[in-house]
This record gives sequence, structure tokens and C-alpha cells, in this order.
Amino acid sequence: MKNDDGALLREASRVLEERKDSGLEGLVGGLECVIINTQPERFEASALELLSTTGHEISDAFDDSDSRSIVLSRKDSADLIVRARTAGENPFAAINIHPRSKSMPDTRLETFVFEVHDLARFTEIQRKRGVRFLTENARESRDYAFIQTAPSRFTGNSIGYIEWKGKGRSYASAGSRPLSVGLAKPAWSHLGNIMELDHTATRVTAEDRDPAILEFMELTNYCFDFAIYVESLNSITNVARHPDHGFAMVFTSGISPYVNDDASGPTEKFTHNYGARVHHMAFRTEKIEDTFTALAAHGMEFLVELVGSPDEGLKQTFSQPSRNTILVNEYIHRYGDFKGFFTKSNVTSLTAATAMQD
Ligand SMILES: [Fe+2]
Repeated sequence: MKNDDGALLREASRVLEERKDSGLEGLVGGLECVIINTQPERFEASALELLSTTGHEISDAFDDSDSRSIVLSRKDSADLIVRARTAGENPFAAINIHPRSKSMPDTRLETFVFEVHDLARFTEIQRKRGVRFLTENARESRDYAFIQTAPSRFTGNSIGYIEWKGKGRSYASAGSRPLSVGLAKPAWSHLGNIMELDHTATRVTAEDRDPAILEFMELTNYCFDFAIYVESLNSITNVARHPDHGFAMVFTSGISPYVNDDASGPTEKFTHNYGARVHHMAFRTEKIEDTFTALAAHGMEFLVELVGSPDEGLKQTFSQPSRNTILVNEYIHRYGDFKGFFTKSNVTSLTAATAMQD
């Protein structure tokens, strides 16, 4: 098999019709947070690393009956919740076992949490459509109601839904206790240039590219927007966007399925080694040359130099994957009047750089 956009575009318009017919259209809003689960012994190191490499700051930390959480926030951005389980089963355990990830069986960006305005109605419609949630009932707290799907068999991602009762962005659950963490954000001025979470990229196999995108459209109010094919690397970068919210959900897959590491390109090699999962989080970055230099001076290692130019509209780079979270950080500067979301030349350079990942 070989992917092309014909079948995907036909199916995407069918999903949009179904969303309208079933009453789902308009129920799901923007991304509120992502939940990054870690090995318990890497919990604080993961949070410190994100404090040292993003513009996010600690806004809360708490201990639940089954996990510890540190919430990192930045104005106008989705929050990053760093978490470690302290009790109970890990519903992601089975899908985390792959040749390169099995030594970190609890480590994954697990959940994308979107705002909904009528959680009861939303879950009722989705259950009738066959969507499986991890719990029978939403978890209620003073500030919100929350429920999440079982991990996707195409992406390994769970989609969470939160209905705020108050002003929002308060994640501590009923019965949780404040957690004291001895972490402080480094006082490095370049971190102020690192802005909101711009997009994330989930890598999936060539076979699962269409179902992964269509499933995400069924679970949110996102639409498939466009795809960039890099034939020489057997890779497609697919972008889904929401009409009212800036955060973009990117899916990257092979054009044709995995054969072996040499023939199949970096995208298929990654899913072969790590399973389908989020590969990187991209942060919009101002003064990207200075920021890149300062991040490197403070010890960050990169897969590639800055790629792109003001004329092309974008400059981007990828960090080395984190030893704590397996995630790559992308830094992306968007120049003033650039209307396109990505450029083929940058996508090609960045994808090629990920061949350097083990
Ligand atoms: Fe990206």
C-alpha cells in the first residue's frame, strides 16, 4: 500500500457531515493541557528539564490518590502537566513496550485535554458512537468534570475532555493535597522568548495514517488541513487544525509501510523503535537565533542547526530527545506575514535530522 490524499479527503468530508448530524459539531474547544507521564524516579527531573527549556513556569503541584502532578503554565498556552503514577494500573503500559521504549514503560505524552461545554451530552453521543472511555463516569472536582478516552490503537494517545465549573485551569482533584517540590525555574532571560505550545507531532505507521487523522476528527472539532509529502524520506507530515484555536495537531507517517531501518526512512524507523506516540512538542519562539545559542550554552543538544529563513517565513530546530520524557522540543519562529503553516524545505530538513535519533 501507498498513502495518497484522495481517500483521506473523501473520508474527512464524511466525518465532518457525521459530526454535524450527530450534534457533535461545536462541542469541543481548544487544547487546555497535555499530560506527560514519567517514570516515578524521573518525575522531578522531567519537570525541571521543561522549566529549563520552555517558557512555562510551575503554577501548581499536587498529590492525588493515584498520582503526583506538577502543572507548568505559560500565558496564552496549553499547560504541560508532568505526572507520575503512585498507585493503580497504567492503561498505556502495553503500548509503551517497543524495542527502544521498553526500558521506560511508564513514559509517554499520554493525553491531550480539550475543553468541552457540555460534557454529559458529549459523552452520551460519543458512547452511542462506540467511543470507549477509561472510566464509566467523569471525575468530578470543585473546579471541573473530566473524562478521557482509552488510548487510541492508531496513535497511543488518549483524548481528555474537561468542563470547567469555575474560571478554569485548576487541575487539583477532590481530596488532593498540595505537593511541595524543590524546583525553581532558572532565571535565564532567553526562556522568556519561548512562547506557547504551537503544535505537537504524533508519529504513526503508514497503515494507520488515515484512521489516526479521522479518529482525531471524530473526537474533536479539528479538521484535516493539508499534507506535505517528502518522498525521499518516505514521510508525510499531516496537519489538522481547529477553526478558532491556534494549536495544531500534526500526524507524521510513512508513505509506504516499514520494511527495514535503512529502506523505510526516519518516520517509520521511529514507530518501529518506539511505537506510535508523540515525537515532539513545538514551542513558538521569538528571537530564535539568540534563543537557540543560549539554549545550547546552557547544555541543550540539538539534532540540527536552525533551518529556514525570514524569506521562507519560518526558522525551526529540533532538540535531541529528552532522556526523561523521550520527547523532542521543536522551536519555531514564524515571521510576520507568512501565511503558510509549514514549508516543504524545512519539513524535509527536520525529518531528515530525526534519522540521527537512535
Ligand atoms: Fe513540528
